[in-house]
Amino acid sequence: MFICKNCGYKSVSWIGKCPECGEWNSFEKEADNKKSSKSKTKNIKITKLSQIDAAQNLKRIQTGINQVDKLLGGGIVQGEIILLSGEPGVGKSTLLLQAVQNIDTLYISGEESLTQIKNRANRLKVNLNNVLFSEDTTIESIIESVIDIKNKIELLVIDSIQTLKSEKEMIKPGSIGFIKAVVNELIKLGKENNIAVLIIGHITKEGNIAGPKTLEHMVDTVLSFEGDKSSEIRTLRAKKNRYGSTQNIAIFKMESDGLKEVTSSILFSQENKKPVIGNAIVGLVEGKRPLFIEVQSLMVPTYLSIPRRVVKGLDYNKVQILLAVIRKQLRIPLDKFDIYINIVGGIKTKSTAIDLGIIASLISIYKNKSIDNSTVFIGEVDLLGNVRKVNLEKLLLEESKKLKFKKIIYHKNCPEIKKLPSLI
Ligand code: TYD
Ligand code: MG
Repeated sequence: MFICKNCGYKSVSWIGKCPECGEWNSFEKEADNKKSSKSKTKNIKITKLSQIDAAQNLKRIQTGINQVDKLLGGGIVQGEIILLSGEPGVGKSTLLLQAVQNIDTLYISGEESLTQIKNRANRLKVNLNNVLFSEDTTIESIIESVIDIKNKIELLVIDSIQTLKSEKEMIKPGSIGFIKAVVNELIKLGKENNIAVLIIGHITKEGNIAGPKTLEHMVDTVLSFEGDKSSEIRTLRAKKNRYGSTQNIAIFKMESDGLKEVTSSILFSQENKKPVIGNAIVGLVEGKRPLFIEVQSLMVPTYLSIPRRVVKGLDYNKVQILLAVIRKQLRIPLDKFDIYINIVGGIKTKSTAIDLGIIASLISIYKNKSIDNSTVFIGEVDLLGNVRKVNLEKLLLEESKKLKFKKIIYHKNCPEIKKLPSLI
């Protein structure tokens, strides 16, 4: 067989261009492997569920960061394979250095030298006495070393998957095929030796590129770390979790001495108490956690035949739909304006609970009238302009009352958006 060094595609004859990944001149002859075809076929292992440990009985390793442990379903499970993905610079290494403090860990650092890590650890004031480090990123050596010290460690951290290399040069390092093969080896290592493996994977702004996306179905848990580098808020979500729910969200602030957990449900700055034209406070639920954020809009006369629409932190298509609803129901001549909408503080959300708040913020800027900042908007808006009840509304209303918002605008007192201008 011939194998493509880039993606691992196999062919019986040599080909110039790989039909799978399109790479030229990437085929090489695979080493003979006659032994495996001769080996005797074994029976499959058959068992009853009563002999299997339920997830609740599994031993969990706590990171000590409350929200991270909760997100994982109570801590890291022995032998669990976790992928932590995020854009470069979002804070993945920082989060992990803080999270492994109390865990017997082997930390493979392919991105930074040990001197850099030492400086960072001092800055973060973390005690890493339980943590062993190595800069060697050869997968075969890592596996050998882990087997040698398997009684001394509970967790292996790979920072990052993109920096690993191999002694066998069959597939090109860094290619999708290579990363898949390496992750398979790591999964086998973790499961056979009961060691949890946490793999960091960089992801680009578009959310793809070699690695994380293709690995998601292979690992037990996928954590995604997000945040806008211009702001200090960072969110950690579980996109997939074989040992817990995907309903939770962990929120942090990146400060000069590391990540700090955010426990409050208010995510906007309360320093400037004066209401600002175009700003509206909205309530939403992420996972099961009520949150309050600030939506900000700007509307300026356009000189373009197709007016500009720029959105940050929100789904662009959702905004387009809401603009169409406003035009139809409120008859605001939106095509005369360029429109910019942003969530203050760099949070991203796909929640539909913020629809009403987005519209309120646009009305505010159009009418040049500020909204009192003790008012909160909660509601999904449908295509006909009706305001709908949101998921876990009761929780959100209770939290709004607790936070002493004076006016809550939602489907009961504002059943359709036509009523909204008179309420603000
Ligand atoms: P890092 O953890 O290196 O990101 P990643 O591993 O995801 O690439 O974090 C990088 C950024 O975080 C860097 O730009 C500086 C910032 N930072 C702080 O603001 N405070 C801190 O205490 C640390 C350690 C980093
Ligand atoms: Mg890093």
